[in-house]
Amino acid sequence: MIVAVTGASGALYAMRTLAALLEQGAQVELIVTEYGRRLLHDELGDTASIDRLVPYLSGKYGGGVSAGGLTLHGNRDLGATIASGSHGSSGMVIVPCSMKTLAAVAHGLSRTLVERAADVMLKERRRLVIVPRETPMSLPQLRNMVLCAEAGAMILPAMPAFYQQPRTLDDLADFMAGKILSALGFEHRLYPEWTGQVPR
Ligand SMILES: Cc1cc2nc3c(=O)[nH]c(=O)nc-3n(C[C@H](O)[C@H](O)[C@H](O)COP(=O)(O)O)c2cc1C
Repeated sequence: MIVAVTGASGALYAMRTLAALLEQGAQVELIVTEYGRRLLHDELGDTASIDRLVPYLSGKYGGGVSAGGLTLHGNRDLGATIASGSHGSSGMVIVPCSMKTLAAVAHGLSRTLVERAADVMLKERRRLVIVPRETPMSLPQLRNMVLCAEAGAMILPAMPAFYQQPRTLDDLADFMAGKILSALGFEHRLYPEWTGQVPR
């Protein structure tokens, strides 16, 4: 599974998604853009730095994250394994996805590893989940989402629901991570299934 983190707001969504995939035993190929690194630091603090990610994740989400494996790739490394369709990665999520990276994926630019890996997912007809975060949205941004959806990507906006009665920011992040895991084909218990009634 490829996880890309870009410079849009919502670093907590990225961390919860990463932890949930690792808890599932997934081998995660991680790419963090330059502004993705900045947002991790700005929104989550010094301890969420990319060099100390596994201790950060296990400190926050528990030792279950050691069930999976994490490989960090440089965003400028277009020779990385995941830049090729011959690599066995079965899906990719860009969480959160900036409007800049969205535009690049929509137009197949492939200038960076995030852009190239997303392009590979589309050309190989594999799962690509894009979690855009911006508000309000311009017409070009809306059109770029349509282009990605037409090419086969799933647009999964960072829009947590409230029917599950969230109490904390982590509850909201659990909901988004659960939606992403479902889109990537994983079963999980990150949020309660809708039973027809609001839980009390
Ligand atoms: C604190 C901060 C918050 C940002 N939030 C967003 C955002 O929510 N959505 C967005 O599209 N761009 C946001 N940006 C702008 C992007 O980081 C910027 O366009 C950057 O070039 C994206 O590059 P990347 O996609 O390679 O990470 C934010 C920037 C900063 C510094």
